[in-house]
Amino acid sequence: MDIQAIDWNEVWKNRQTRVYDDEQNQAYWDGRARSFALTTDGGDYVARFLEVVKPEPEYRVLDVGCAAGTLAVQLASRVHQVTALDISPMMLDRLQATCKQRGIQNIQPVQASWTDDWDRLAIEPHDVVIASRSLIVPDLRQAIEKLNRYAIRRVCISTPVGVGPLDPVMFQAIGRPCNFGADYIYVYNLLYQLGINANLHFIAYQENRTYQDKDAVVTAMRHRIGELLPQEERALQEYVDRTFVCREGTWQRVEPHIIRWAVMWWSPQYKG
Ligand SMILES: C[S@@+](CC[C@H](N)C(=O)[O-])C[C@H]1O[C@@H](n2cnc3c(N)ncnc32)[C@H](O)[C@@H]1O
Repeated sequence: MDIQAIDWNEVWKNRQTRVYDDEQNQAYWDGRARSFALTTDGGDYVARFLEVVKPEPEYRVLDVGCAAGTLAVQLASRVHQVTALDISPMMLDRLQATCKQRGIQNIQPVQASWTDDWDRLAIEPHDVVIASRSLIVPDLRQAIEKLNRYAIRRVCISTPVGVGPLDPVMFQAIGRPCNFGADYIYVYNLLYQLGINANLHFIAYQENRTYQDKDAVVTAMRHRIGELLPQEERALQEYVDRTFVCREGTWQRVEPHIIRWAVMWWSPQYKG
């Protein structure tokens, strides 16, 4: 079969396990803002992603799906300005609180969706546009074309490899399939089809997220699953009892959990 005969955007869409509208998306990420802001899942992910961004002091960077500033805060001291765009006002509140606390003045937060008209929000092209772990979009092709339109020198994205941050053992424990949707290879194939020869490298790290108590662990797991039946809830509690321990006052995994991401970057000569 000819690879060009396959519409990779359609294949990608068909692999999506859930498609949220903006309102649902905002509510979901607002709900995760508190735990997301207070903990990181660790490893050297941010440092390795920034190696690809190659920040320069004069650069302006657009960070799409910035959350509470995982990358934006680290970038701020290394570039001229960061535009931090996210659909979740709660994430942006957290980001602004961090900026205030640390005296950071060159991050411009913008509350918006991937699907909004960014021109109407006065967003201009930036030297580098990044979308780290944030390609949460209804149409991947449109999103990539948009990133290209707003990038001058480079676009950098990352997407899961396989199950990515999901924990297949937890899904198995509660008796549900671990549907992880379309991983990086679907994205890479679409880029190829669009004439973009993206650079690719992989980041793997051991999750070292810690939680203040067992409830916080269970809540974080529930966020990944959604509504639970009573027997699933019991199975989840048992899973957490088996898999997490309290060490020096914080809850953490007994066994390492490895998370893999694919980072892809290119120069935006391709204009969609
Ligand atoms: C997994 S977090 C990634 C955060 C950060 N870039 C990182 O790598 O740690 C995904 C972020 O995308 C944001 N997001 C989800 N859907 C969005 C949309 N439609 N438009 C803009 N941002 C969105 C969420 O609010 C969340 O902050």
